[in-house]
Amino acid sequence: MLWGSAISSYQAEGDNFNSDWWLFDNGKSSKASYFWYKWREDIKLLKELGHNAFRFSIEWSRIFKTEKEIDYKSLDIYKEIVNELLNHNIEPIITIWHFTNPIWFYKKGGWLNKENINYFLDYVQLIGKHFDNVKYIIILNEPNVYAFKSYLEGTWPPQEKNLIKAFKVLNNLKSAYLQAYKILKNSRRLLSVSQNLIIFKPYKYYNPLNVISSLIDNKFFNFYFLDRIKQFMDFVGINYYTRVFVKLFSNFVYKENAEKNCLGWEVYPKGLYEVCKVVYKKYKKPIMITENGICTDNDFQRIKFIKEHIYYLKKAVKEGIKILGYVYWSFLDNYEWAEGFGPRFGLVEVDYQTGDRKVRKSAYFYKEIIYEEANT
Ligand code: BGC
Repeated sequence: MLWGSAISSYQAEGDNFNSDWWLFDNGKSSKASYFWYKWREDIKLLKELGHNAFRFSIEWSRIFKTEKEIDYKSLDIYKEIVNELLNHNIEPIITIWHFTNPIWFYKKGGWLNKENINYFLDYVQLIGKHFDNVKYIIILNEPNVYAFKSYLEGTWPPQEKNLIKAFKVLNNLKSAYLQAYKILKNSRRLLSVSQNLIIFKPYKYYNPLNVISSLIDNKFFNFYFLDRIKQFMDFVGINYYTRVFVKLFSNFVYKENAEKNCLGWEVYPKGLYEVCKVVYKKYKKPIMITENGICTDNDFQRIKFIKEHIYYLKKAVKEGIKILGYVYWSFLDNYEWAEGFGPRFGLVEVDYQTGDRKVRKSAYFYKEIIYEEANT
């Protein structure tokens, strides 16, 4: 089984000047986790921490700074990262798109404009051509979260609050995914999406509005995208974090008195088992947990989190669900989008002033689990 952790380009690399997020937050992400400058030592660290897999994303806006110009120097760095991982026997899991777009793409209307899909496909072609040694590719990260945050809740660029636009974007992402799958698919590659799955429960079981809303949220947020690409995923990538209690559609609360992470999300380990069960029954495909993690200033809570979630993952395995791997979010503390640098998800602490790394106890705890799992 694959055991690893993840980062995304914009959140960890630093200096992604050509990304729409840089424009949106005035470069607040700055050097982020300095991964662009420290990836060699970081890969050594991954090895020391017993990882046999690492998920990271390629920054589209680094490769295509403008519509036509390909930055081969940056492309080469990503290729070196892949080679370095492979040399250390760490399986690279590449994400092609993790929320961020080049500024020029954003200015052309971004994902709202159907014609723009072709620009993404140019980028996909290039990745397909240059990363033949990568087996696991995640084409898109959480299209559901992106459509929600950027086009419905309005907290991410371009800050729209429009249900019709949100669906348009989701459908354009779906078309992009399906075409990208065709471009990339060959016998050596396994392709999927990383889908964020939330456990939706009604706020009150006897309130029909709560019940209907939770069912609708489940249908649309969790499964709308997956149902439309189901024949074109080689495994299902799941990002799992929490459970919510729905009052009316996107109006929900977290369980009172439950354990929470630093953003107030309920920590509900059994949910990992529940989502695996539902997904496996529905799609009958192997599953990879491409993200699961906690932001907390108490590293003992992170240890507990990892222990309990892996307990439930193993329960799923025991029941015959095929799990390809588990990827903790995140390897490094990083830039948590609209929440900024406050929330710390990392197995490794980052000093944002200097870029210095400090391995947390939870990283060593996770290493022991990986070791035990590999030897049982
Ligand atoms: C995203 C990450 C994010 C994490 C924690 C996931 O939805 O893929 O980019 O940092 O959740 O919020």
